[in-house]
Amino acid sequence: MTATIKFDEQIDGHRHGIRQLQSGWADGPSYITQCPIQTNQSYVYNFTITGQRGTLFWHAHISWIRATVYGPLIIFPKRGVPYPFAKPDKEVPMLFGEWFNADTEAIISQALQTGGGPNVSDAYTINGKPGPLYNCSSDTFKLKVTPGKTYLLRLINAALNDELFFRIANHSFTVVEADAVYVKPFKTDILVIAPGQTTNVLLKAKPNPHKSTYLMAARPYFTGQGTFDNTTMAGFLEYVQSSGNITLPKNLTLSLPTLPAINATSVVANFSQKFRHLNSRQYPAQVPQTVQKRFFFTVGLGNSPCSKNQTCQGPNGTKFAASVNNVSFALPSTALLQSYFFKKSNGVFTTDFPATPLRPFNYTGTPPNKTFVSNGTKVVVLPFNTSVELVMQGTSILGAESHPLHLHGFNFYVVGQGFGNFNPSTDPAKFNLVDPVERNTVGVPAAGWVAIRFLADNPGVWFMHCHFDVHLSWGLKMAWIVQDGKLPNQKLPPPPSDLPKC
Ligand code: C2O
Repeated sequence: MTATIKFDEQIDGHRHGIRQLQSGWADGPSYITQCPIQTNQSYVYNFTITGQRGTLFWHAHISWIRATVYGPLIIFPKRGVPYPFAKPDKEVPMLFGEWFNADTEAIISQALQTGGGPNVSDAYTINGKPGPLYNCSSDTFKLKVTPGKTYLLRLINAALNDELFFRIANHSFTVVEADAVYVKPFKTDILVIAPGQTTNVLLKAKPNPHKSTYLMAARPYFTGQGTFDNTTMAGFLEYVQSSGNITLPKNLTLSLPTLPAINATSVVANFSQKFRHLNSRQYPAQVPQTVQKRFFFTVGLGNSPCSKNQTCQGPNGTKFAASVNNVSFALPSTALLQSYFFKKSNGVFTTDFPATPLRPFNYTGTPPNKTFVSNGTKVVVLPFNTSVELVMQGTSILGAESHPLHLHGFNFYVVGQGFGNFNPSTDPAKFNLVDPVERNTVGVPAAGWVAIRFLADNPGVWFMHCHFDVHLSWGLKMAWIVQDGKLPNQKLPPPPSDLPKC
């Protein structure tokens, strides 16, 4: 399939969650796997989807353009292969977005210049519609359902900077898939979904609804300091008369579903602990049982000094920054994958990304005095097929905040998570190595940690970053290089000849 869209600015396109096995050149993030597509140019990404199915999405990856440039990417099972649950009567993609009544590129470049926090968004949306609670809007998402029927909702959080709680009044969901991987079905009446995550749920329409319309609503989960968009998006679940049998009641007063408090970390933790890999005979979990390389990364905010002759609006007159193991990643001016592939890494990147923090501290306790990050374009190099365990530890330096960490090129297993500081002598004994959820984006808990495992079986350069664009812009990102294996089908082929150049 091909699609062409032209832009009057630099652009790129990332297919979020597609593994790009041996097609790493088509991954899309600017300055990581390619240079941006220049103004008014077009570029066709060629890749094969190998062994994946489910709900994912695509989005621009440069600057904050993904605020508006995104869409669903739905891969159906192979013909004749059923879902591991009863076939729904209808499927509905629902994309949560975040709307700024301004040019998002201008917002982030101003924030980076002044060192302060960027403006927050003006509305959240479902499929582009903010709903009746915003006075500027008459645009409301309507999910039309027939009594008694079952709907597969393909939920995608494409918002820039906020995790969302989502609920439909008087209805509950059965979760069946996360990040395009089947999970053991579980029931819930509240959903939590972080930017970069996708969740498939079954919604059973009531056989005898007592209203014809119910409200659905989404609002952020947020624990950090500073300002954020705490508006509420709403939409309608509308019952449509089926032929004959029941008569729908006249509308009573609509009431919003109750949503958890903005900072309800316990609701988020409870919810995320319910996910288990389906781990059936047909869809087995393949958790690496042994580990060849262990990494411990701190993820969080910090600051960097204000340059002379500048007034900075960040914390205590400094600039906001974010880092992994205190390295705030600086994007190079040429693509990492090109310089790696053609062995021209000199002056582009270094391979000394620290496997553990250089100066350990009490990550979730009182912050250290010096909170300046260091800058660099550092990567980790992994031999082909290394089994990796990575513990990501959230820090409280500028307030404890949850970070949705997304890894390109892989799915990983979430083998453990907890609050406080990770304890290497007691926590690993509690890891789930049987049926942990498999995903591409995981929330590192606020003031907590998460442990993941993956097999580095995909040669290339793979971005890993916080899927909050504000943290991405502040440097909460890094990259892994996975080397070629020995066999021909374990090597990254050369780039397409028309790959955009810097
Ligand atoms: Cu959804 Cu690096 O991206």
